[in-house]
Order: sequence, then C-alpha cells, then structure tokens
Amino acid sequence: MKVAVYPGSFDPITFGHLDIAERAAKLFDKLVIAVMVNPHKNPLFTEEERKELIREAVSHIPNVEVDSFPGLLVKYAESIGAHAIVKGLRAVSDFESELSMASINSKMYAGADTIFIPTNFKYSYISSSLVKEIARHGGNIEEFVPSHVEKALQIKYR
Ligand code: PNS
Repeated sequence: MKVAVYPGSFDPITFGHLDIAERAAKLFDKLVIAVMVNPHKNPLFTEEERKELIREAVSHIPNVEVDSFPGLLVKYAESIGAHAIVKGLRAVSDFESELSMASINSKMYAGADTIFIPTNFKYSYISSSLVKEIARHGGNIEEFVPSHVEKALQIKYR
C-alpha cells in the first residue's frame, strides 16, 4: 500500500490545502494529513482544533486520515511507513525553501521522497496567515476557506 504524508501547520486549513489533499489522495492508496506540533510556535488553533477542522474539510475523501506529529517530519514519515512527503507549491518563492527541506529530509531518511504538487492557480495567493489577517479585521473569507473554518475563525476573533 502506497502511503503519503501531507505535513503542515494547517492553522487553519484553506481551500488551497484542500485542493492539494484532494489531488494527492488520488495518487496514493492512503494520504495522512499531519499537523505539525511545534511548542515554539504560537498557533491560533490548538492541535485538536486544527485536526478537527481538517477532518470536517476532508470528510468526502475516503482514503485520507488526519494525525499530528511533534519533532522531525522524517521520523514521523518513517513511523507510519510513508513512501512520499507531499508539498504544495504556490509560487517560485516557495520552491527555494522547499527544495532545501526536501534535500535535508532525503538525507535524513531516504525512504520517503518529496513530491511537489503545484497549487491550482485559483488558490495560489491563499495562505493561512493572510486568511487570519483578513478574518481578524472582519473581512470576507468565504472564497478562501470552507464555511466551518470561516465560522471557527469568526469565533476566535469575536
Ligand atoms: O504549513 P507549513 O508551516 O509551511 O509547514 C511546514 C512543515 C510543518 C511542513 C515543516 O516545518 C516541517 O516539516 N516541520 C517539521 C520539523 C522538521 O522535520 N524539520 C526539518 C525539515 S528541514
């Protein structure tokens, strides 16, 4: 069984992430969306909240699981027997840091190759940070995130 991991902060999941997840799920038998837990970061949503928002967003994709991991991605990938690490690329600016990460990750663990999936151009400008910024100022984010995420953001910033 070919397993891939799609890691990220997902704070919160956007339509851009969802598009990558839907397409990656078609390429593998199982896709595990893995929320990075980093005690040095201060996310808006807790680990559990982020996982729950993702679960609701991907409930229509049968071969997707949602999990979280602390520490190194490659250790997590190895622990779940993942053959691939999926990353979405929005723009050339993403590529430089993603290429370094892919190289270091393959040096640490050669068992999972990094697969880059170009983000659909419709979502190329969306990021969780921008969505949070717009939501914080009361702007309309319905084009960028599923409605349950929109509600969760409105509650956070109420
Ligand atoms: O959504 P993000 O914040 O762009 O995701 C970044 C993420 C979680 C994929 C990346 O920071 C990561 O893999 N972190 C885990 C720690 C790790 O393995 N670091 C070494 C990679 S160079």
